[in-house]
Amino acid sequence: MPKIHAAITAVQGYVPEYVLTNEELEQMVDTNSEWILSRTGIRERRILKGKDQGTSVMAIEAVSKLIDKKNINPADIDLLICATVTPDMVFPATANLITDAVGAVNAFGYDLNAACSGFLYALSTGAAFIESGKYKKVIVVGADKMSSIVDYTDRATCIIFGDGAGAVLLEPSQTDEGVMDYLLHSDGSGAPYLHQKAGGSRRPASHQTVDAREHFVYQEGQAVFKFAVNNMADVSARIMERNGLTANQVAFLVPHQANKRIIDATAHRMGLTDDKVMLNIDRYGNTTSGTIPLCLWEYESRLKKGDNIILSAFGGGFTWGAIYIKWAYNS
Ligand code: UT7
Repeated sequence: MPKIHAAITAVQGYVPEYVLTNEELEQMVDTNSEWILSRTGIRERRILKGKDQGTSVMAIEAVSKLIDKKNINPADIDLLICATVTPDMVFPATANLITDAVGAVNAFGYDLNAACSGFLYALSTGAAFIESGKYKKVIVVGADKMSSIVDYTDRATCIIFGDGAGAVLLEPSQTDEGVMDYLLHSDGSGAPYLHQKAGGSRRPASHQTVDAREHFVYQEGQAVFKFAVNNMADVSARIMERNGLTANQVAFLVPHQANKRIIDATAHRMGLTDDKVMLNIDRYGNTTSGTIPLCLWEYESRLKKGDNIILSAFGGGFTWGAIYIKWAYNS
């Protein structure tokens, strides 16, 4: 039997309205706009404001607009995977809140946590369900409300992150296009460099953990930077090599948006010119699971059927990887 490929057949993003600029951050911590821009490439990021507004709010916006755009019946969705490190609640899964809100009454759903590589892990997992032949419509959504775990007194982390969500629909490809290959890695020895200390089973929430500000992102920036530069560039070059792709044959790199310098190093290693690199870090910062689908959404009109694109990410865990996709439609 010929292999079934899982094709992305639609993409949709959502970012909240509130814009947190570098200038506003200057009023909050000891930093300056030039430093942030030159060290990270970020000018502003979006923040989800309002009481009791969780990650699901953004994911529901993205998924419901995706359903409308593709004009599908929500009852036909088989599975929804939500990549996130900021679920609305520890349980139930945010995926359950999303499927309920969008009327995906026949779908099962679960959350997946691979930090900034979450969307890649979720996309490859969703693709495997389609490739099995048993499932016809899978939604993969990457969504994070990073502002809920960022310490706005810590200048080393609060300048980087933002909130946002992006979703794709996966269906069996009618042709040979779709997810062609993936290379995923994890290395738990990287955990000390990037993690959230409290709120899990090891250190449940207590007055002491709150007073010690342990419910926020802890990052040793320089150490993470070195691992990210090496591994994201390596894995992106390797997936090209093992699929026999030259730089000329790659239409776009879709990199996780953590730091413009990491993106530049990855593109350089792949031999790609700047015009082939999707970017939105200047406007959204690092939205963790949201960066890659938000890029695809913003560049959708420039993608053509048959384009070779490489998705690539590095994040907490450590986790990293790359996915090779043959784009399946003209919009
Ligand atoms: O997405 C998941 C994975 N995460 C990443 O990929 C992030 C990787 N790391 C990074 O992107 C960078 O390490 C950061 C953007 C977090 C930091 O940039 P850096 O160039 O590595 O800065 P640094 O930590 O080496 O700090 C350089 C200097 C220090 O001052 P001294 O010791 O040289 O006097 C910092 O205290 O810059 C200082 N600094 C700042 N200055 C102004 C650190 N943060 C700031 C700030 N504003 N916000």
